[in-house]
This record gives sequence, structure tokens and C-alpha cells, in this order.
Amino acid sequence: MTDSRQSRGKIEISFAVNGEPKTVRAYPMERLLDVLRQQLQLTGTKEGCGEGECGSCSVLMDGILVNSCLVPILQAEGSRVVTIEGLAAGETLHVLQEAFLECGGAQCGICTPGMILAAFHLLNEKPEPTIAEIKEGLSGNLCRCTGYSQILEAVAEAARRRTAA
Ligand code: FES
Ligand code: FES
Repeated sequence: MTDSRQSRGKIEISFAVNGEPKTVRAYPMERLLDVLRQQLQLTGTKEGCGEGECGSCSVLMDGILVNSCLVPILQAEGSRVVTIEGLAAGETLHVLQEAFLECGGAQCGICTPGMILAAFHLLNEKPEPTIAEIKEGLSGNLCRCTGYSQILEAVAEAARRRTAA
């Protein structure tokens, strides 16, 4: 297929990713997940089920936690997207990333970026969540490795460190 035929039907979409303006050319119904991973090389966002069930592909869009496998790139026009790559400050990990490492909240790592973004969203809404609130906040994110207790502990530990700072 020629370049012009390949690009027929594609549109330009401009949005901010981790604070940087980006413009991509994509088919309107391409998944935000694929644009992030393939065009923008932000491969921290993971694909699990591809059906909106597991939360591995979670990102923040205008401050709302979304499954990027369900978001057509068209919807991203003008939005502010935050991926896992946007949490650390240079070489300094975010407190949630530190806590996941120290508490064993990450094993195979497929669920981890989505879990951390869900936890980030939760702590923005509720800086001192109870364990029940952490469970609720992470209820859209599945993990098949950890049994969840280390993840819950990691989020609770990050909340403690944030409020103590
Ligand atoms: S890959 Fe998007 S919810 Fe599972
Ligand atoms: S660490 Fe493997 S799925 Fe959660």
C-alpha cells in the first residue's frame, strides 16, 4: 500500500502527554493505548485484556482514570494525559513507585503501572485512605501475581509518607 493510501482517513490529534504538547496522525478510532505505546514510545502503559476489564492500560485523562484500551484517540484531542512515565521527577521515583518496590507490590509488572496510576488518582482524592478505600480505589485493576496484600500495603505506606512529608 502507498503512503498516501495508508494515511487516508488519518487525522491530526493534539494533546498533552505528561505535560508536553504532542501531535499525532492516527485513525480516529485507534486506541489511545496504541498511540501511546507505538507512536509516542511510552511503553510503560501495558495491555492486559484489551477489553476494559483489567486496568493494566490505565492512564489519567484530564485527571480521570481511564482504560486507554477503550479510548479512541479522537477523544484525546485537547486533553491532558498522564502516563506512568509522568510520575517520576527525573531519576527520583514517585513515593508510590518507591513504596511498590519496597513492599513487593510489583512482581511480573504487567499490572503495576495501572495500579500505581489508580493509586495516584486515589491519593489525590483521598490523601489518607482506609484499607477499604484503597481496595475500592483499585477495584478496577487486576493482579494475578501478588495476592493484592503487598499492593494494598504499598499504597498505605505511600499515603503515610506523603502525609508525613
Ligand atoms: S488492557 Fe485495558 S483494561 Fe485490560
Ligand atoms: S504483578 Fe503480575 S499481574 Fe500484578
